[in-house]
This record gives sequence, C-alpha cells and structure tokens, in this order.
Amino acid sequence: MISHESIEKNLGLLIVLTILIVSVGGLVQIVPLFFQTSTTTPVVGLKPYTALQLAGRDIYIREGCVGCHSQMIRPFRAETERYGHYSVAGEYVYDRPFLWGSKRTGPDLARVGGRYSNDWHVAHLMNPRDVVPESIMPAYPWLDRPLHDPGIQAKMRTLDIVGHGYTEQEIAEAPAALQGKTEMDAVIAYLQVLGTHAPKN
Ligand code: HEC
Repeated sequence: MISHESIEKNLGLLIVLTILIVSVGGLVQIVPLFFQTSTTTPVVGLKPYTALQLAGRDIYIREGCVGCHSQMIRPFRAETERYGHYSVAGEYVYDRPFLWGSKRTGPDLARVGGRYSNDWHVAHLMNPRDVVPESIMPAYPWLDRPLHDPGIQAKMRTLDIVGHGYTEQEIAEAPAALQGKTEMDAVIAYLQVLGTHAPKN
C-alpha cells in the first residue's frame, strides 16, 4: 500500500497518478457522448453542407471570421432572447472542424441564416459601415473574386469517410456547382444556412 505521504514526496509517481486520474475522469465524461443519440443524431432537416456552402465555410475559416464571431448560443435568457433557441449538439454533426469560437467581438452567427437578404450580406461584406454605420467589422472586398476550390471533391470524399453521406452524383456535380461563383457567393451561401434547422422556441 502506497501512503499518501510517499506519493506527495515522489514527484514522478505523483505525475503518473495525476495523469491517470485525470484521464479516467475525462474518459468517463467524454466517451459516453460519442454514443448518445442526442449528440450524434442530426437535428430534423439538417443536411451536410452543399459544395458551395462547404467552399464558403472554408473561406470563413481562412478569413478568420471565427476570431470575432461565435456559433454557439448558450442556454441563458439573455442569449435566447437575442439570438433564438440555444444551440443543441445535433446541429453540429456536419461541422468539421467546429466553429463554436470563444470570442464575440461581433454577434453570434449560429442563427444568422435567413435573417438578412443576400444583397445585405454583399453590401455588409464589401463595407460593413454602409449598412451598420457604427460597425467595427473589417471590410472583405476581395471576396468579390472568382471562387477557386479545386479540392472540393477530395474534401467531400474525405468528409464522407466520417459519415457525411454525399452521393456520387453530388460529388461529381460539385465543380459545376462552384462554376461562375464568387468567394462572396460561397460565404453567403454558408451564412444563409446557419441555424435554419435550429429547434423552434
Ligand atoms: C474584428 C472582428 C470581426 C471580424 C474578423 C469579422 N466580423 Fe463580422 N461582425 C463584427 C461586428 C463588430 C459586427 C456587428 C456590427 C455589424 O453588423 O457590422 C459584425 C457583424 C456581422 C454580421 C451580422 C450579424 C448580425 O446578426 O447582425 C455578419 C453576418 C458577419 N459579421 C459576418 C462576418 C464574416 C462572414 C466574417 C469573415 C469574413 C466576419 N464577420 C468577420 C466583427 C467582426
């Protein structure tokens, strides 16, 4: 039997046992979530991102939008009154990586889909101050250039491995779906789908 004192005095043993205990605690909390239907089943109507939305999501990541915008509404009254129903796990099953964010310089975007017209988004991304005079959001005028995403089919195939379920036809048609689009179109297609399958209040 190892005494408490001998563990505290033996740094190596203390480190090993601490790691062991923390790992067990972590596993007990985290592993069951992988098998719970409420965390693994998509909310009703949720679909994997289309080719255009997927390309837009990658631009959202590239431009660092997540640095100022969260996509996670917490179950507090102040949040649900402002944004709508709090976020649930089933809304994120096709989000790889998650874009929950942890900083809200701007508002949460988890429910922004359908809140504004496409034209509003174009104006806003070209120069936020044109539509929201007091805005401190940077302008993204360069997004108004042709979308170039040669890896789209490879991305869809990769996401398929983890269960996104794209059909061969969707993958085959992906390059055509991006044809003639701008990066702005892609980002807006992505923004417009966010939260559209959220649970209703
Ligand atoms: C430096 C911080 C910052 C960055 C980076 C940023 N935003 Fe914003 N965003 C804001 C702020 C502040 C607002 C609120 C004022 C406004 O509407 O412009 C906002 C508002 C928005 C809104 C309107 C939300 C609503 O509910 O009214 C959208 C949509 C948006 N941002 C999208 C984006 C996208 C897409 C990107 C990346 C291309 C981005 N933002 C990058 C700060 C930022």
